[in-house]
Amino acid sequence: MTIPNTEIELVTGTLTDLRCDLLILAVFDKRKLSPTAQKIDKACDGKLTSLIEQGELDGKKGATLLIPEISGIRAQRILLVGCGKQDKFGPAEYQEVCNKAISQSCRSNIKHVISTLPELTLSKQHDQKKYHPHWRIEQATIAAYGSLYRFDALKTDNKKDKSRPARINFTFDETADTKFSQLAITQGVAIGRGISLAKELGNMPGNICNPTYLADQALALAKTLPIITTILEEAEMEKLGMGALLSVSRGSRQPAKLIVMEYKGGAKSEQPVVLVGKGLTFDAGGISLKPAGAMDEMKFDMCGSASVFGTVQAIAEMKCPINLVGIVPSSENMPDGDANKPGDVVTSMSGQTIEILNTDAEGRLILCDALTYAAKFKPATIIDIATLTGAVVVALGSHATGLLGNDETLVQDLLQAGQITRDRAWQLPLWESYQGQLDSNFADMANIGGREAGTITAACFLSRYTKDYNWAHLDIAGTAWKKGKLKGATGRPVQLLTQYLITRAKTRT
Ligand code: BES
Ligand code: MN
Ligand code: ZN
Repeated sequence: MTIPNTEIELVTGTLTDLRCDLLILAVFDKRKLSPTAQKIDKACDGKLTSLIEQGELDGKKGATLLIPEISGIRAQRILLVGCGKQDKFGPAEYQEVCNKAISQSCRSNIKHVISTLPELTLSKQHDQKKYHPHWRIEQATIAAYGSLYRFDALKTDNKKDKSRPARINFTFDETADTKFSQLAITQGVAIGRGISLAKELGNMPGNICNPTYLADQALALAKTLPIITTILEEAEMEKLGMGALLSVSRGSRQPAKLIVMEYKGGAKSEQPVVLVGKGLTFDAGGISLKPAGAMDEMKFDMCGSASVFGTVQAIAEMKCPINLVGIVPSSENMPDGDANKPGDVVTSMSGQTIEILNTDAEGRLILCDALTYAAKFKPATIIDIATLTGAVVVALGSHATGLLGNDETLVQDLLQAGQITRDRAWQLPLWESYQGQLDSNFADMANIGGREAGTITAACFLSRYTKDYNWAHLDIAGTAWKKGKLKGATGRPVQLLTQYLITRAKTRT
């Protein structure tokens, strides 16, 4: 199991009396100890002040100092973490130091960590109502999972790696409501685990993580959680007329799967939110073959579906009062004698015909049938998540997810959820004027819209299958994984999605 199984809990009591292997304390720029750190400093005869005055740590953001021997308190060691300038201490800085502190705690001799970081208030220019104590507890929990995660399932010496704390406790603002602080941990743990699951599935190579593997994951979720999983095989998809989805999988030896996960946490009468995630377990491009460089990264082409798995698991684990359906069309896109050819025309489940001018624009082909199928659940809202276009990487880079939709309220709600979690999205226009780029001489539409505005024309294509819904589309091609030395799945946008669903459930009840 590479998903961290560290126990994360709140702790109360006099800090100097609490036993642990490592106590995490904050120092701001210009050698300013946080209020909690000052108390500890007093208890240990000014040891922290004297180390700081000797120049061991100045409080610069991200700097750390491990103090191994300490008397006057029960903690074995102290980790001082620099938080930068106090008047510049915002949500991003808070997340960053939380991450830093936990990564520095990954040593074999540290089993039990107590972190006081959730006690830090953000500087005045940040809305204290938004970034309340519960936000800080939740984010500290998610950050802990983030820095504990590593992909070692396929390394042969993974058993040796025991250098992760088994227990992390957070102290917190005791003026904050204890019940909500507890809820913040519960939700933080569920979200942290959901993100880890999304990373784990994303990182799995294409020879292991194929459509059948994803289907098995969905069945496994249904074993431990109140989730109903249904898998549709190719024969059933054939009966439903999913000609677009099946045309993609025809070029692969792996059978396609349509995975459905239902979680019913809300009222019986409440229409569900449906999440549809692109589950392309490997995208070679098909006959319109991709160039060889970095083609390995196309194992990440199922990260949309991974975020659906992570979100459904998180929502079910935190028992969120909402009805949620996750739908994952899953296939490979390979070149083959039986694969789609440029110029082929296929008929989608909606009845609309599609001329496939580029077999590498396959994501929209599997998504359109899944979106049509979603009608079965009478969704109140439908959100698809897909590594859909290289163009979104050009437009927004790796910081913002592309967001387009046919309902402005939904778009604004998603932007908000991204803002508060910093799993951010940015809206692109879905104007009618772009639709003409999809005109085809031989079918109802082409599957590509030319060089210009590739992310928008991809969304235009999907919009033709979502006319009856409040719908939004998240293009995560730039945000779902990192390249280079830190190559790996990010677990985005699980945080954005869970935040959106939690807020929605709250405003409904
Ligand atoms: N999975 C890719 C999108 C992608 C490309 C994600 C590069 C991340 C990095 C998608 O299936 C694809 O190939 N899209 C094409 C569409 C084009 C043929 C209209 C693209 O973006 O090049
Ligand atoms: Mn492709
Ligand atoms: Zn793709």
